[in-house]
Amino acid sequence: MSQTKTVVAINGDGIGREIVAAARRIVDAAVTKDNITIEWVEKKAGGEAIDAYGEPLPAETIKACETADAVLLGAVGGPQWDDVAPSIRPEKAILGLRKALGLFCNLRPVRIFKALQDYSPLKPELVQNVDFVIVRELTGGIYFGEREEAEGEGPNELAWDKETYHRYEVERIMDVAIETAAKRRGKITSVDKANVLASSRLWRKIAQEKAAANPEIDMDYLYVDNTAMQLVVNPGQFDVIVTTNLFGDILSDEGAVVSGSLGLLPSASIGTGTALYEPIHGSAPDIAGRGIANPLGTILSAAMMCRYSLNAPKAADAIEAAVEKALEAGYRTGDIYKDGMQRVDTNGMTAAVLQYI
Ligand code: IPM
Ligand code: MN
Repeated sequence: MSQTKTVVAINGDGIGREIVAAARRIVDAAVTKDNITIEWVEKKAGGEAIDAYGEPLPAETIKACETADAVLLGAVGGPQWDDVAPSIRPEKAILGLRKALGLFCNLRPVRIFKALQDYSPLKPELVQNVDFVIVRELTGGIYFGEREEAEGEGPNELAWDKETYHRYEVERIMDVAIETAAKRRGKITSVDKANVLASSRLWRKIAQEKAAANPEIDMDYLYVDNTAMQLVVNPGQFDVIVTTNLFGDILSDEGAVVSGSLGLLPSASIGTGTALYEPIHGSAPDIAGRGIANPLGTILSAAMMCRYSLNAPKAADAIEAAVEKALEAGYRTGDIYKDGMQRVDTNGMTAAVLQYI
């Protein structure tokens, strides 16, 4: 008898539908190794939900996520919703889900795939050993602080956003960073702007307390501007980077591009409720509906889902190994295509991975 796990699939917008469909095929095939069957529950969020219900995150979607074993999300947003009111932008769906599910931590592993080593915009010798995880705080800081949209006239027209951090928010994200580092090389870089921001000074004080209480961890402290520079000068130095919501958003895009494979990078958002898995890249409206999107970021996110939420470690390992093999065999979607490689579309890449599962 196999065990059934419930996963909410949120396609979202743009290429979301295509890449989630690809990942579902892979997961269904892989989880048989752990004697698991998936019951997929499709729910809407983002632009698609705005069109269907007039709101980006219907209560029904939240409810389904709350009771599921995991959530797999494609991507949300697109130009057709650029002019909707700020309160119902498609991005509100993902922010609302993070808050509703208590997903205070976003894990973004950045590594170099051997087959793609020469895809980084950095010199090959700089990126050979790149293998780090960004631990981004996800339900606090300026993303969720008070704000006022622009008001007033002329030069005095004013808008503002407030950055706040409570001690408990910093402590729990530091705990995840420490746990993550303990399973890796034991090194943490805590990133802040403590030379200017009060919230960063609290952040750093708590990071230092945690470092003192966990002597097996080697913690250092960098300002965010310096970190942005170090990421292109010497990205191999990092093991675990722990940082605030806004800094983590910015640094994770930089980290992704350093790896040369933005389309391949997965993420897991974890916390107190059901965890959510999604690729780092966006909804790529320019290529949506053409069946050519790279599904590997979503497929690798689904591998993280198997490992952390579905108790399917064999499936997770099998998916990650199959992706490596497909890349080594030369299969490439358009975004990572180079001369001499085997150009495939979304279905072709999915089939290529599937054959190695
Ligand atoms: C990300 C995205 C989101 C964020 C957007 C879509 C709200 O850029 O997950 O990094 O800023 O957190
Ligand atoms: Mn981002």
